[in-house]
Amino acid sequence: MSHDDFPTDDPAVVTCGLPYANGDLHIGHLRTYVGGDVYSRALERLGQETAFVSGSDMHGTPVAVNAEQEGVSPEAFALDWHERYAATFPKFNVEFDNYGHTHDETNTAVTQELVRDLEDAGHVYEKEIMVAYDPVDDQYLPDRYVEGTCPYCGAHARGDECDEGCQRHLEPGEVEDPESTITGNPAEYRERTHKFFAVSEFSEYLSGFLDRLEGTSNARNQPREWIEQGLQDWCITRDMDWGIDYPGDNPQDLVLYVWVDAPIEYISSTKQYSERVGADAFDWEAAWREGASDAHPEGGEIVHVIGRDIIQHHTIFWPAMLEATGHAEPRAVMASGFVTLGGKGFSTSRDRAVWADEYLDEGFHPDPLRYYLATNGGFQQDVDFSWEKFRDRVNTELVGTVGNFLYRSLLFAHRNYDDAPIAEETSDEVQDRIEEAIADVEAAVNDYSVRALGDAVTDLARFGNEYIQRNEPWKLVDEEPDEAARVIYDCVAIAKAIAVLFEPIAPEKCERLWAQLGEDGSVHDVTVAAAREGPAGDLAEPTELFEQIEDERVEALNEKLESRVAEAEAADGDESEGDEDASTDEDATDGDATDGDATDTTDDTDMTDIEPLSDDRVSFDDFQELDIRVGRIDEAEGIEGADDLLKLRVDLGAKTRTIVAGLKQLHDVDDLPGTKVVVLANMEKAELFGVESNGMVLAAGDEADLLTTYEDAGPGTKVK
Ligand code: MSP
Ligand code: ZN
Repeated sequence: MSHDDFPTDDPAVVTCGLPYANGDLHIGHLRTYVGGDVYSRALERLGQETAFVSGSDMHGTPVAVNAEQEGVSPEAFALDWHERYAATFPKFNVEFDNYGHTHDETNTAVTQELVRDLEDAGHVYEKEIMVAYDPVDDQYLPDRYVEGTCPYCGAHARGDECDEGCQRHLEPGEVEDPESTITGNPAEYRERTHKFFAVSEFSEYLSGFLDRLEGTSNARNQPREWIEQGLQDWCITRDMDWGIDYPGDNPQDLVLYVWVDAPIEYISSTKQYSERVGADAFDWEAAWREGASDAHPEGGEIVHVIGRDIIQHHTIFWPAMLEATGHAEPRAVMASGFVTLGGKGFSTSRDRAVWADEYLDEGFHPDPLRYYLATNGGFQQDVDFSWEKFRDRVNTELVGTVGNFLYRSLLFAHRNYDDAPIAEETSDEVQDRIEEAIADVEAAVNDYSVRALGDAVTDLARFGNEYIQRNEPWKLVDEEPDEAARVIYDCVAIAKAIAVLFEPIAPEKCERLWAQLGEDGSVHDVTVAAAREGPAGDLAEPTELFEQIEDERVEALNEKLESRVAEAEAADGDESEGDEDASTDEDATDGDATDGDATDTTDDTDMTDIEPLSDDRVSFDDFQELDIRVGRIDEAEGIEGADDLLKLRVDLGAKTRTIVAGLKQLHDVDDLPGTKVVVLANMEKAELFGVESNGMVLAAGDEADLLTTYEDAGPGTKVK
C-alpha cells in the first residue's frame, strides 16, 4: 500500500461489510453497498486498478438462531438468503467483481490457513473460560443464544455485545445473569477450553495503524479510545456446530467465531475474482500479501466500506489479524452513519424499515436512491430517511438541476443541429470548468467523500444551467448561428462530462445519457479523461433522464409506511409508546456519529427472543384498572387497504364491540368466528383505516397465538 494520492500503481480492493444471510435487506444496509460501489467505480474512473468484493456472512448466531426458529438447517437457510442478496445487489447497480460467501470452499480454506499462520506465529493461546450453558436443553449458549446484564454498564446486553448500553463487544462469560434467548432458561456457566488471539500484543502496532489509517474520522477516533482503555485478547472459538471448524488440534469440536472468518471473506472473494479473470488481470496475492509481489511489496490499497456499528471489528481485530499473518495493512476504513426512520432505528420485527425490494417494487429506478444515499449528509452522519426528503433531493437536484440542464441542452442541440457534432472545440471557460469538476472528483476520491463526488456533478450542472441561460443560444440561432453552435457545443461537452463523472453514482442513467450523446461503447469503461475530450457522437433524440416524484406519491408512500408500522406494532400486541426492543431493533441514535460515538446495535435479526422478565412491578390496584374480559368472536372480516388487520365483532356479554386486530396474515379468517378470546375491554379507542377499534384482543408472540379460556367461562366473564 501507499499513502499516495489515487490513482496509484498498486491494485486496490474495495470491500463492503458482509450482510448476515438472515433476512431482507433494507435501505440502511444499502448505504454500505451503494457507498462501496460508488467509491470503487470512482476509483476506476481515476484509472485505479480496482477489485470490488464482498460476500454473504453465513455463520454465527444471528443466522443459527433464525434458522433454528424456522426449523431449517443453518446452511440451507443462509444459502437461500445468500442467493437472494446476490440477485438483489445488481438491481441497485451494485456490481461486485466477486460476491462469495463465508461458507464456501475458498473461504473455508483461506480462513483455516490464516488461523494456522496465526497459531504458528505464536499469537494464539488456550485458556479455560466459563461459557454459558443451558442445563435443561443441554446446550452451550454462545453469543446471541444468551443475554443478561452488561458487566461494564449494567444495561441489558446480548452475549456478544452490549447493544442497549455501552456498545462494548462482550467476550464469552462476561455477561452477567445469563439466560437462554431461545428457551428463557437461566444459564449456568461451565468451564471450557477456548482459543484466544492475543490482540493486546498489538496495541502499539494498532496505535500506529490508526495514525496512518485513511477514510472517515470516526474509524480512527473511536478505536483510539478503546486502545487507551486497554485491549483485551479475543476469544476466537465457539461451542457451536455451525461455522468453520477450528483447524488442527480440536478435541472439543469448536468452530471459529464468526468475526474471524467473515472479514477473511474479503481476501477469499478477491481470490475467487483473480481465479476467474486470471492473476494477470488482478492478482489477489499481490493485493493482500506483503511481499508477494516485487512490484507491490506492501500489498494493495485496501479500502473497507462499512457501517459505523462494526468499526471495532475493522480497526482492531481485523488489522491485528492481518498484521500478525503478514498481510497488507488496510489503507482506509469508510464507516457510514446509520439510516434511521422517524428518528428510530430500523426494526425487522416492527416492519419499520424501507425494504430494498419494496423500493424497487414501487417502480423507482435504483439510481435516485443511490444518489440520495451517497449524498445525503456526510458519509459519517446518520440519515433519517423520509420519502419527503427523498422527493426533495430527487426533484430539486436530479430533476431540477442535472436532468433539466441535460434535457434542455440536448434537445436544443438535437433539434437545431441535425444530429451532428456542432463545433470544433469547447470554449476556454467551459473547458476550465470541466477541469475543475474533474479536480473536484479526484479530490472527493482522495477524501473518501462520496457526497463530494455528487456535489462535483450537481455543481457542474448548475454551472451548465447558468451558462446556457447567460448565453441564450435560442436568441442567437438565426442571427449568429456560429455563436449559437459554439454555445450549444459547450453545453453538450458539459453533458458528456456529466455522463463520465456521474457514472459512479448513477451508472444506469449515465449509460443512457452516453447513448443519447451518441458516444461509442459503455461509459463504464472510460476514465475521467473522457470528460475533457469533447463530444463526438451523433445526438439521439433526448428523453428526460430523471422523473419527478409527485406529492401525492409521497403521501401514499407515507401512509403505507405508517400503517405498516402501526399494524406491526398492533400485531406485536404492543402499541405502547413505540418502545424499542433493542435485541431486534437497530436503535436510533442522537444523530451525531461524527466522532464515531456509536450507540447503535448491529443488526436486526428477526429472532423472537424471550424478553427478560420485567423488574418493574405494577401494583394490584394498577392491575385492577385493566378491565380484562372473556369475549367470543362473532364476525371477522378484512379492512380495505390494510394487509394485516381484521375488523372483529366480539361478544363481551353485555355488549358486542368492534375491535380491530392484526390477525389477518396469521389466522384463517373463516375459522375465527366462534373462537373465545381474552380482551382488554377498557383499552383506549383507536381509529385504524377508518374503523374505530374499541378494545384489544390479547395474543402471545409474533404469531399472535390467541389467548382463550381453559374451560367454559362465557363472554363477559372478568379475568382477574
Ligand atoms: N455480517 C456483519 C458484517 C461482517 S463484515 C466482515 C454485519 N452484517 S449486517 O447485515 O448486520 O450489516 C451489513 C452492513 O450493513 C454493515 O456494513 C452494517 O454496518 C450496515 N448496516 C446495517 N444496518 C444499517 C443501517 N440501519 N444504516 C446504515 N448501515 C447499516 O454487520
Ligand atoms: Zn454496557
